Amino acid sequence: MKFNQYKELFEEFMTRKLPKVFPQNLYEPYHYILQLDAKRIRPAMMMASHECFAPLNDDVMTAALAIELFHNFSLMHDDIMDKSETRRGFPTVHIKYSENSAILSGDALLILSYQLLEKIENPIHFKEIYKVYNKTAIEICIGQQLDMNFESELTVTEPEYLMMIEHKTAVLLACSMQIGAILADAPEQDKKAMYEFGINVGMAFQIQDDLLDTFGESAKVGKVIGGDICNNKKTLLYIRALANAHATHKELLQQWSQINTFNKDKVQEVTRIFVDSGSKTYCIAKRDEYYQKAVSNIESLSISDDLKKGLKEFANLAVDRLK
Ligand code: IPE
Ligand code: IPE
Ligand code: MG
Ligand code: MG
Ligand code: MG
Repeated sequence: MKFNQYKELFEEFMTRKLPKVFPQNLYEPYHYILQLDAKRIRPAMMMASHECFAPLNDDVMTAALAIELFHNFSLMHDDIMDKSETRRGFPTVHIKYSENSAILSGDALLILSYQLLEKIENPIHFKEIYKVYNKTAIEICIGQQLDMNFESELTVTEPEYLMMIEHKTAVLLACSMQIGAILADAPEQDKKAMYEFGINVGMAFQIQDDLLDTFGESAKVGKVIGGDICNNKKTLLYIRALANAHATHKELLQQWSQINTFNKDKVQEVTRIFVDSGSKTYCIAKRDEYYQKAVSNIESLSISDDLKKGLKEFANLAVDRLK
């Protein structure tokens, strides 16, 4: 199946099965973020992983919905933490409603995500999924905390950055791949390879997300360009630029780090330094390195060449991004 078919199938399932809670103002904010146009890459990856070993069924659709709810919960809180006012081309939940709504409605979404897992009746599947789900959820908290800590740290290294993005982003893609394989009773080594594939796709995906935050088009990305620069995020773009820029540019980067509210001049100057220092080129190469690693994970799977080709398309999409 092609990516867009997974997306369509998933969205049709989500429309029918999205749990509703009352009062209305607890339900409305999460319904709002979920109905905005999104890539649905995590559910699609779970479905693709499952289909490598078995036909789709209700359990995998339910788990895919759980993952998408978890992801959207994390976005509702992330947007408060990152002071982001736009997502998917529309006002973020805390801007449209309120911070309190984004916190509580986000919490409800997280709990609903877990509640969906109750529907998995096979106890062996349930236990295995529950374990990877919890491990992933706590890792995401760790990643998000490191991301916040790094905003005010000046000496973040490349390995520290890579560890942070593995936690905040890559593990959820990996978990999606693994759950798809678990529910399809895939061989043990294939479950592991699917997880590793998800990690490498996820690393490429977050490096690309960082690139787009600076170099993307706001209409396509659906976010305000330059948010990471203004928040002093220690992206690889920043870390490399600080290491490689000439002395006056280094000084400029340090001066701009005194300001952490949205500033057009800061975005413009720092973006230029990211380019001139060779950091942008470096990040693109690093992103492609992870893409290659993901491709080699596919090679180790005990599935047909046709299915391998399908997974490779997923890796491609994650790097190019769907929008
Ligand atoms: C945004 O995720 C958060 C990151 C981990 C980069 P996506 O880029 O998958 O966002 P949507 O769900 O498609 O809007
Ligand atoms: C978000 O990373 C990761 C999680 C939500 C766990 P970002 O902060 O880079 O995501 P965007 O750019 O806001 O989508
Ligand atoms: Mg963030
Ligand atoms: Mg963010
Ligand atoms: Mg980002």
